[in-house]
Amino acid sequence: MEQYVIRGGRELYGSVPISGAKNAALGILPGVILCRGTCRIENLPQISDVANMLEILSSMGAQIRYLNKNTVEINSAHVKNLPTPYEVVRKLRASYYLIGALLGRFGHAEVALPGGCDFGFRPIDQHIKGFEALGATVSITDGGIVEAHTEDGVVGAEIFLDVVSVGATMNIMLAAAMARGTTVIENAAREPHIVDLANFLNTCGADITGAGTDVIKIRGVEELHGCTYSIIPDQIEAGTYLTLAAAAGGEVTVTGVIPKHLESITAKLSEMGAEIIEHDESVTVRRPRDRRLRRINIKTQPYPGFPTDMQPQFAVLLALADGTSILTEGIYDNRYKYVNELRRMGANATVDGRIAVFEGVERLSPAPVRATDLRAGAALIMAALAADGTSTIDEVRYVERGYEDIIKKLRAIGADVKCIEQYEATKALG
Ligand code: UD1
Repeated sequence: MEQYVIRGGRELYGSVPISGAKNAALGILPGVILCRGTCRIENLPQISDVANMLEILSSMGAQIRYLNKNTVEINSAHVKNLPTPYEVVRKLRASYYLIGALLGRFGHAEVALPGGCDFGFRPIDQHIKGFEALGATVSITDGGIVEAHTEDGVVGAEIFLDVVSVGATMNIMLAAAMARGTTVIENAAREPHIVDLANFLNTCGADITGAGTDVIKIRGVEELHGCTYSIIPDQIEAGTYLTLAAAAGGEVTVTGVIPKHLESITAKLSEMGAEIIEHDESVTVRRPRDRRLRRINIKTQPYPGFPTDMQPQFAVLLALADGTSILTEGIYDNRYKYVNELRRMGANATVDGRIAVFEGVERLSPAPVRATDLRAGAALIMAALAADGTSTIDEVRYVERGYEDIIKKLRAIGADVKCIEQYEATKALG
C-alpha cells in the first residue's frame, strides 16, 4: 500500500494550476447518457473518482476516447440500461447521478446505493422524493439496489426540497431535462457545480434557467445533442492549496480559478491574518511562517456559505492559530474523524457532536497518520507540511480520489513529499 512521506517545516513558494471540478465532472459525465451524439468534455480532472465513473459508463456501453489527459469524447448511443456494476458504484457517492440520468433517458433505472466518504448517515430521500414527483415508482431492494420506474417516461413537476441538497438538485435536473412538461425545484442548492451541470445540459439543448439561485426551472426538451464543454475549475482544490500555503507559510498562487467561487474561503483566510491578492483568474495567498494566524470561528453551510469540503483543511489552521477557535459542522453529523489524527500531531482539539474547539498551538509535530477520507487526507498533508520533521500518511488512495497530480503540484511549490510503498516509509522514519 502506498504512503506519502512528507518532510515539513519549510515555506512554500510558486503557483499551482487548478484542475477541473470533481463534483461538476461527476454530474456531467452521467449527464452524457442523455445525449444523442458525441460529447467532448474538456478540463476533466484525472482523478480516481472520474476514472471510476468512466469505467461505469464504459461497462454500460458508452464509447470513450481520451484525446489528451484532460479531454474525453463520449458517445452514449449504445448505452444499455443494465444494472450498474456494484463493485465500482459503491466506491462513489456520485453514482447516484446514474439514477437520474437513466431515468431521464429510459424511464427506468437500477443502480446500487452509492458509496463515498463516511460522514455518518447520508440519506438519498430527497432524490427519491424528486423522482417520485416526476412520476417514478422508487423502491430499494434487499440487495441495496435503487429501482426507479415509470410506465411512460418522466413528467415535469414542482418539487420543494426539505433540505438543501447538491446531489438531489443535480439528480432531479438530470431526470427532468427531457421530461414532458416543466419541472421547478425550490430550495435548490446553489453550488458552482450546479450551474456547471445546467450550462452543460443547456449546451446540449436543454432549457434550464435559475441554476445558481434557489429556484431552478427545467422545461423538458425532446432530445439532447452532443456538444463540447469545458468543466469549471475546482473550488475545493484551489481552496486546499491556498489553505495549505497559509499553514506552511510562504506565498502561493492558484491559477485558472474563478475567484468569486473562492470568496467564502479567502474571506476566512484574510480574517486569520493571511494576505490575499485576487487577480482575474488567479488568487495569491501570502503568510510569513513566523507570523502567527489569528483565531476565528467557522460554520459550514451550503453555498455561498463556507463549504463543508474545506472544513478539515481549515481545522489545521485553527489548530495553529493564536487563541481558541470554534468550528461548527452545519452539513454532516460525523465529519471529525480526522481530529484524532491531528491530535497525534500535537493539535489541542475537542469534539462534541458537530462542534470542534481548537486551542491553537505554536507548532504541530510530525507523526505517522492515516487519511480517514478525501478532505481529511488533504488536511493531514497540510499538517505534515506545517510540522517540522518527517510525517507519513497512510490510506492516500482517498486523497487520489479528488486531487489531480497532487505530488507533482506540491513539489512544484517546494514541498518535500514523496509517495512510496509502506515498508520503505517505515525505513524512512526509522
Ligand atoms: C455533495 C458533494 C460533497 C459535499 C456535499 C455538500 C458530490 C459528489 N459530493 O455531496 O463533496 O460535501 O455535496 O456540499 O458532489 N441530505 C438528506 N437527504 C438527501 C440528500 C441529502 O437529508 O436526499 C442531507 C445530507 O445528509 C447532508 C445534506 O443534506 O446532511 C447535504 O447533502 P448533499 O448536499 O446532498 O451532499 P452530497 O450530494 O451527498
